Amino acid sequence: MINIAVLVSGGGTNLQALIDAEQAGRLENGRIALVVSSNPGAFALERAAKAGIPSEVLRRRDYPSAEAWGEALAALLAEKEIGLIVLAGFMTVLSADICRRYENKIINVHPSLIPSFCGEGFYGLHVHEAALAKGVKVTGATVHFVSEVVDGGAIIAQKAVEVAPEDTPETLQKRVMRQAEWLLLPQAVSDFCAGRLRVDGATVTKA
Ligand code: GAR
Repeated sequence: MINIAVLVSGGGTNLQALIDAEQAGRLENGRIALVVSSNPGAFALERAAKAGIPSEVLRRRDYPSAEAWGEALAALLAEKEIGLIVLAGFMTVLSADICRRYENKIINVHPSLIPSFCGEGFYGLHVHEAALAKGVKVTGATVHFVSEVVDGGAIIAQKAVEVAPEDTPETLQKRVMRQAEWLLLPQAVSDFCAGRLRVDGATVTKA
C-alpha cells in the first residue's frame, strides 16, 4: 500500500475526486494518509475531516524561509511514510529539495493543456482567463510529475475540453474540472500506486 499525501490550498474538489475514488475502491494499492493545506480556511480541510483523513496546516508565512517551511513539510511526510505527494490545487511552490527527494513521486494537476497557459503566474482561474483572452477553441487539463521547473515535469496524461462561445472563466473552469481533472487525477494516482507508470526522461508510459 502506498501512503498518499494530498496538498491543497482551496476548495478541494480534486481532493474530493480522490476521496471518492478511494471509497469506491478505484485507488488501486493507494490510501490517502494525510492532507496538508497551505491555507487554514481551505474548504478542502472540511472534506478531509468528513472522510476521516488526518490533516495539517502549513502556512509559508509562519516560517522564516522557504527552506524552513520545506523542512517542516518534509518532516510531516517522513512521519507518515508518504510514498506519493499529490498537488491538488496547491498554491505554494515546493522547494527544490523536496522536488529532488521525491523525484517522480509528486503528481500535479494543471488546468490547461501544457505547454499552453502554464508556468509562473498561471494558476486557478487565471489559467482560464488567459485561455479565453487568447480565444482558444480547445483547452483541457494535464497531470504531470513535478520537477524543479514550474509545470515542467514529465506529462502523465492530458484531456482536451471544448471552449464554448459564451464561456466565462468560471464556466470554463467548471467544465475542465468535470470533464478532465476529476477523471485524470484519480486515474493517474491509481496507475502510480499500482506501479503501472514508467518514466524515461520526459516520457511517461503506462504498462
Ligand atoms: C484546479 O483547477 C487545479 O487544476 C488548479 O487549481 C484548481 C484547484 O481546485 N491548479 C493549478 O492551477 C496549479 N497550477 P480544487 O481546490 O477545487 O481542486
